[in-house]
Amino acid sequence: MAIRFEGNIFHLTTDHTLYQMGLDAFGVLYHLWYGEKTECSMCYLYHYPDVGFSGNPYEAGKLRTYSMDTLPLEYATLGNGDYRIPAAAAVHADGSCALDFRYESHKIYNGKYGIEGLPAVYADASQAQTLEIRLRDAASGLVAVLFYGVLEEMDVITRSVVFENDGEEDLTLTKAHSVCLQLLDGAWDWIHFHGRHTMERQMERTSLFHGIQQIGSTRGTSSHQQNPSLILCEQGCTETSGLCIGAALMYSGSFQAQIEVDQLGQARMVMGIHPEQFSWKLKKGERFSAPEVILSCSTQGLGKLSQQFHAVIRNHVCRGNYKLSSRPVLINNWEATYFDFNEEKIYSIAKQASELGIDLMVLDDGWFGKRDGDCSGLGDWTVNEQKLKGGLAPLVEKINALGMRFGLWFEPEMVSEDSDLYREHPDWALRIPGRKPVRSRYQLVLDLSREEVRDYLYESMRKLLRENHIEYVKWDMNRSICDWYNPALPPERQAELPHRYILGLYELLERLTTEFPDVLFEGCSGGGGRFDAGMLYYCPQIWCSDDTDAHERTFIQYGTSFFYPVSTVGSHVSAVPNHQTGRVTALETRGTVAMAGSFGYELDLNLLRDEEKETVAEQVKRYRKLQPLIYDGSYFRLSNPYRDGMAAWSFVSEDQSRVLVQGVIYRAEANVLQKRLRLRGLDPQAGYRVNGSKQSYTGSALMAGGLLLPKVAGDDVAFELYLERL
Ligand code: DGJ
Repeated sequence: MAIRFEGNIFHLTTDHTLYQMGLDAFGVLYHLWYGEKTECSMCYLYHYPDVGFSGNPYEAGKLRTYSMDTLPLEYATLGNGDYRIPAAAAVHADGSCALDFRYESHKIYNGKYGIEGLPAVYADASQAQTLEIRLRDAASGLVAVLFYGVLEEMDVITRSVVFENDGEEDLTLTKAHSVCLQLLDGAWDWIHFHGRHTMERQMERTSLFHGIQQIGSTRGTSSHQQNPSLILCEQGCTETSGLCIGAALMYSGSFQAQIEVDQLGQARMVMGIHPEQFSWKLKKGERFSAPEVILSCSTQGLGKLSQQFHAVIRNHVCRGNYKLSSRPVLINNWEATYFDFNEEKIYSIAKQASELGIDLMVLDDGWFGKRDGDCSGLGDWTVNEQKLKGGLAPLVEKINALGMRFGLWFEPEMVSEDSDLYREHPDWALRIPGRKPVRSRYQLVLDLSREEVRDYLYESMRKLLRENHIEYVKWDMNRSICDWYNPALPPERQAELPHRYILGLYELLERLTTEFPDVLFEGCSGGGGRFDAGMLYYCPQIWCSDDTDAHERTFIQYGTSFFYPVSTVGSHVSAVPNHQTGRVTALETRGTVAMAGSFGYELDLNLLRDEEKETVAEQVKRYRKLQPLIYDGSYFRLSNPYRDGMAAWSFVSEDQSRVLVQGVIYRAEANVLQKRLRLRGLDPQAGYRVNGSKQSYTGSALMAGGLLLPKVAGDDVAFELYLERL
């Protein structure tokens, strides 16, 4: 049994970890442990002094050491004498805002709970167990049901909360976070992933300080600027050793994660929907579901933690026919043509691509409406016949006749003011009466909380997907959102809109992905502006970044790898000088970097020299051969690009017989020793042959001493080594 309740203690065990909570005499649920598996109740670690100015609940009587302000509460709330960051807060009908949750009941069952209207980790009864703990705020009747999904073999525990108004009066939730997690002490580091458009998920690691540290997004999307994920780790934790806990929010809208180190040095982390521009009115009998957080813990360092997240995301988050299968190698016309194309141009790119072995032609932005630049056309999902005479069908047929599949770009959530859709339905765009809306990339945002908007998008996309042989959809989204206002909602419900938008987005994605299971959906938001586990539930891959420069990509892909598996990372070879940075890197380097992802090209292949075309054909062949190892193998980060002057990573097959080591050495240096790279995850006893040579080395030598990397001439030179067990 993964979940036990004994002696008022909840034990949630996975193969290597234990999560423990206790119930006390006052019905308070407190956190005891999340970490290495032990066989003991961890209660003995907790003792509480009488802390001045930390008050005591009334029923504690003269017990001055009993305070909500110092207890490691499993789900902390505002207004009960705990002055640290709360996970939940509410305003009651009388305007007061206290909440004090006490245990009411619990149940344990096989299988994994789901969440109405929201993406969630899925697992069957043999793979997961669920614990539901009902907590009640006696005065108001608000119930919080804490959900725990335990995926034993994955070393994963999921968390979510459902609020039920079981009282007599309406109330309003003003904070409804999905998780609250206590740590015994605050001598930890935390790692998070910040960035910007074209430089997403830059890893930052700092020590916790006393007080509150936080990340988040109020952009209506999970954002380029902060990823909805974080790692808490012991200060000595490395890639290969030490305790670390990861948390990934399965949500694509505004989010917040806070960590507070309190006066006693204990740490608390909470994570969920961002409380700014959020509130949710709960009438008597109504429920509200908070999105899921995936937690995983490793005692063997960050590398293992990442592998655990990769496994759960690949097997229990991504869905559909493409979840585990190989993906087509694609060519995308965006950086080749931008808006300037016609069917001959697209066909010529596809033809050249087919000759080089590429599987799929993706027609990007500009094929619809009056879309000759980024000022117009969004919302008009009908073919621009100025560019594509006779519509899409003849082009798709010709491309199919080349033996290639066809894919199409959409940006469903947006509208241009210069579009038929906007002229007909100006009210469908988000804007606040009496205020001018904020434009971004000249576009406005459609209110996806509205059913008629979703129906329009569903019908338009469905028509195109039905009438044409489209096998891939790129779902783009190119701005942050503001101007939140929906005339159909009463004033007190306007702050529900950002979340209602995300519920609408998920509903639309669910309808389309269910109706077109054979279509590969790729997520995108100006590259990686919505790279989160929520989107991965609908789209098994996401265009990782609009930065296609191989050098910068190694940093972006490094940060992405902490939570997200390689199969989810859309990655393309583009032209040089690179369009974002002007940097020139070798085609081999661009190929190697893009291969650590869902591989493709994004340039006009007709402009390549003959020898470059040969290289492309070889890369495509090589990727196809290596793809099972890249997708199914264990991924190891072998260097820290910020520190080591190179990016290096490897894929090791499950049986440890095959290893692919790839990387980029950033700068050539004169008169230096060859670089050495210590490998990981090999069979220590076995011998390995490198790149088919006669010389072999033992796994133990390669892991302890390392592998000598080839000498490089020039900057940003890639290397690739293939090891086979003898
Ligand atoms: C942003 C995407 O990330 C690009 O790949 C491209 O599709 C453009 N949008 C098109 O507008």
